[in-house]
Amino acid sequence: MATVNKQVRAAWLQGSPARCETVPPGAHLPWRIVLLGAPGVGKGTQADLLNEHLNACHLSTGDVFRAATSRSDSEQSPAMKEALGFMRRGELVPDSTVWDLIRERSECLHCAGGFILDGFPRTLAQAVSLKHLLDKEGLGLTAVVNYELPFSQIVERLAGRRTCEKCKAVYHVTERPPKIEGCCDRCDGKLFQRDDDRPDSIKVRLEAYDRSTAPLIEFYGKSGLLMKVPATGRPEDIYARTIPELEYRRTKQFANLLWAAEENRR
Ligand code: AP5
Repeated sequence: MATVNKQVRAAWLQGSPARCETVPPGAHLPWRIVLLGAPGVGKGTQADLLNEHLNACHLSTGDVFRAATSRSDSEQSPAMKEALGFMRRGELVPDSTVWDLIRERSECLHCAGGFILDGFPRTLAQAVSLKHLLDKEGLGLTAVVNYELPFSQIVERLAGRRTCEKCKAVYHVTERPPKIEGCCDRCDGKLFQRDDDRPDSIKVRLEAYDRSTAPLIEFYGKSGLLMKVPATGRPEDIYARTIPELEYRRTKQFANLLWAAEENRR
């Protein structure tokens, strides 16, 4: 019998056959959100806040790759080893590897509370594949949120970031310091600096963003899903800036679904 791992987000972080211990309560219309923005703009921090308030699961492709680094050499597939090399250098992982990982975890897109995709899609090819998958599964997006911040502030955020090795909570040495230096407030885990937050990797990541991910703003702009949100100020202020429009879009989506159901009944 397959071993069932009961960690939170286990199904996403480890892939099949791992199962999540707690599944959020179902919603009439689950939140289905994509977060865009340059590396370090604060997508993970906002995803945590959105998850806390909306119950939608935080699905980060970067977290899946980082979770794989803690596996032993023999447990890592050749494709995963290759992916981790790209990540350490700050380069994008090839689309085919990322897509295999998403397909393997596509059940998470049906999570009862919905999902917050963070770090995926990151290229036009990934965005097109995601659209086909969501259309096929009958899953409509609520919105695509693009966080905007000048590059100088982004570099400061990345250079000061510290992450918990156990629960993956994110801190900043001056902006969001933990209560005890080097120690996670939530789980007492040890905080570490990510390999790709070194200056040479940061430069490569920002270039990759400009080249491959920024074009997605136009892609989602054309579909009417795009919301632009300034990422300045405290995380709570950015969250407060985001939520009214998200709620408005969800209410509109819900009304459209009711209207379509009514039309079908006639
Ligand atoms: P990924 O993990 O997705 O990294 P990223 O997009 O580079 O984003 P980050 O996690 O660096 O930043 P963030 O925007 O989440 O900011 P955070 O909230 O942490 O990807 C890593 C790598 O994996 C990629 O480079 C690539 O190699 C590979 N990869 C992943 N997905 C892929 C895909 N789809 N295709 C190809 N390759 C892929 O915040 C940053 C810091 O700022 C923290 O210290 C935080 O505390 C602080 N902070 C946050 N908000 C504020 C605020 N309002 N004020 C002050 N400080 C703040």
